[in-house]
This record gives sequence, structure tokens and C-alpha cells, in this order.
Amino acid sequence: EPEVIRDKEAMRRWSRSMRSQGKTIGLVPTMGFLHEGHLSLVRQSLTLSHVTVVSIYVNPGQFSPTEDLSTYPSDFSGDLAKLSAVSSSGSGVIVVFNPRNLYDYDDGRKKETSGGDGGGGKVVSCVEEGGLGHETWVRVERLEKGLCGKSRPVFFRGVATIVTKLFNIVEPDVAMFGKKDYQQWRLIKRMVRDLDFGIEIVGSDIAREKDGLAMSSRNVHLSSEERQRALSISRSLAMAKAYAEQGQTSCSKLKDMIISEIVGAAGKIDYVEIVDQETLEGVEEIKSGVVICVATWFGSVRLIDNIEINVT
Ligand code: PAJ
Repeated sequence: EPEVIRDKEAMRRWSRSMRSQGKTIGLVPTMGFLHEGHLSLVRQSLTLSHVTVVSIYVNPGQFSPTEDLSTYPSDFSGDLAKLSAVSSSGSGVIVVFNPRNLYDYDDGRKKETSGGDGGGGKVVSCVEEGGLGHETWVRVERLEKGLCGKSRPVFFRGVATIVTKLFNIVEPDVAMFGKKDYQQWRLIKRMVRDLDFGIEIVGSDIAREKDGLAMSSRNVHLSSEERQRALSISRSLAMAKAYAEQGQTSCSKLKDMIISEIVGAAGKIDYVEIVDQETLEGVEEIKSGVVICVATWFGSVRLIDNIEINVT
């Protein structure tokens, strides 16, 4: 089984000792409950660098107090078994970074609480609600606003902040992100450019179940009936791509088709948007590379998916 490092100072020492031996370091940030999508990132990282750090940390900074932090699934020993199978079938070293709390700077001593920031209509994350005294956040001001940022106002600032913290602790050469979370991947690339991190950001294709459903740790919360209906997401995205490739360039027509497929399967739409692949700005006619991004609810489970359309 892979070595597990829990202390951030020990993590940084390990990375620096690898670096001093001339080894390059790949980082795969995750929140655990690993599936084939995560493992494909790990495999790709192993081919791009000598050693790979898989971080497993459910980041309270990207959940708001009303979201699913407390029910986020976990299976740490299962995760280790999957990673050990990956490392024995490939080559290269995997270590797991599994910190307990990356916002606790006081080693568990009791904090002064910040006094009820949870109310008053102020947008807070679980970290602020917990009163841990963390007050520095990284924001990618434009890219964080659209798509998932609309319904999840603290999400991307939490992601950018935890990824910055992981970059500073692990000091990787390369970091892997899935295009499943397209906006997240683009936002991290922009942050790395804007803040001059010397880290290469690699985006990896979406891993899907055989029937097309995009893999996600949250899929376990779907009943079998909801899961069946959720296939309308990937099905409608594939149909829209096919229509676009046959010459349908009207984004409103393509979006209407997707919406009616998903609503027809009793899914609730958060958004269906067709945006430029880099700026994530909405487009009306497909002229250059776009991505169709969808966020829906099936039952109490929020699912996202997307498909890129490249115009040649
Ligand atoms: P998590 O949802 O665990 O995802 C970890 C990484 O796996 C992300 O880069 C995500 O895009 C990728 N991934 C998830 N499902 C995938 C799929 N079906 N195909 C390809 N890649 C997939 O994303 C996060 O965690 C967090 O926001 C994190 C970046 C770790 C920051 O806390």
C-alpha cells in the first residue's frame, strides 16, 4: 500500500527530498472516494513525473453550510487499495497526502469563534462557520462567477485557496485536473498563470461509465431509478454535439434540446450553457471551440457534465 503522510511539514520535507534527488513530482488533488476518473489522473501523472502525490482531503472551504460536506462519501482504506493496484500495475511511486485539517493553524487548541457569521445573508464557507480564523482567500474574479459559481458562491474561492495551499505544501512540477470539472480546470490554469506558479496544469478527459454517466463520487447517492434518468445528461450532450457537427450552430436551439431531454427525464436544471472553451463566456452561434456545460439535480444529487465541440 502507498505511504500515507498526514502532516504538512512532513509532506513538504518528503517533496524536497525527492526534488533533491532529481525527481519530478506530480500532484493529483482529490477529495477521496476514488473512482476510475481519479485513477486515470493518477496513471497520467505517473507517466508525466517520477513520483505522484495523491491528496485526499474533503475541503470544508469549498462547501457552504447548506451543502453536502457532512454526507460527502469516503472510503479511505478502499482508496488505498485502489491506489496500490494502480502503482503495482504501472511504474512509479505513489504517496497519499491525507491531512486532518488544513485550516487549523493551532494544532487543535480551542479557537475563539468568530461569532455567528453563518447568518445575516453573508456568504460563508464551512471554514468560516467553524470559526477557525482563516481569512486569506484566493479568488479568480471573473472565472469564479459564471456556471457553477452562480449557485455555489463560495465554491471556487475555496477550490483556488485549497489548491494554492496544496501547491505550497507539495511543491509539485505538474498537477492533474479532470475536465469533468471544466470550470475548475480553467480557473486553476488561469490562477497559475496570473500568480506565476511554476507548475504545469494538465487537463484530463472525462471518465464515463459504460452507459455514458460521467463518473463522480456523488453518483453513489443516486437511487437506481434516478441514475437511469440521469443518463439523459450525457445522452443529450452527445446529441447536441452531433447536431452541431451536422451544422446546427444556434446555441439556443441546442440548449432547448438538452433542456427538454433532461426535464423529460424529471431532472431539475441548474444551468445549461454553451461557452467559449477558454473564457467561459456565453456564445450564441458556434463559430470557435465551445463547451456545453450542464448542472442538474436528480433527487437531492447535484450532477455536472460537459462536452467540448471543436470547430475545424
Ligand atoms: P474531486 O471531486 O475528488 O475530484 C478530483 C479530481 O478528479 C478533479 O480534478 C476532478 O475533475 C477529477 N475527476 C472527477 N471525476 C472525474 C471524471 N469522471 N473524469 C475525469 N476526471 C474526474 O475536484 C475536486 O475533488 C476538488 O474540488 C479539489 C480539486 C480536490 C479541491 O478540493
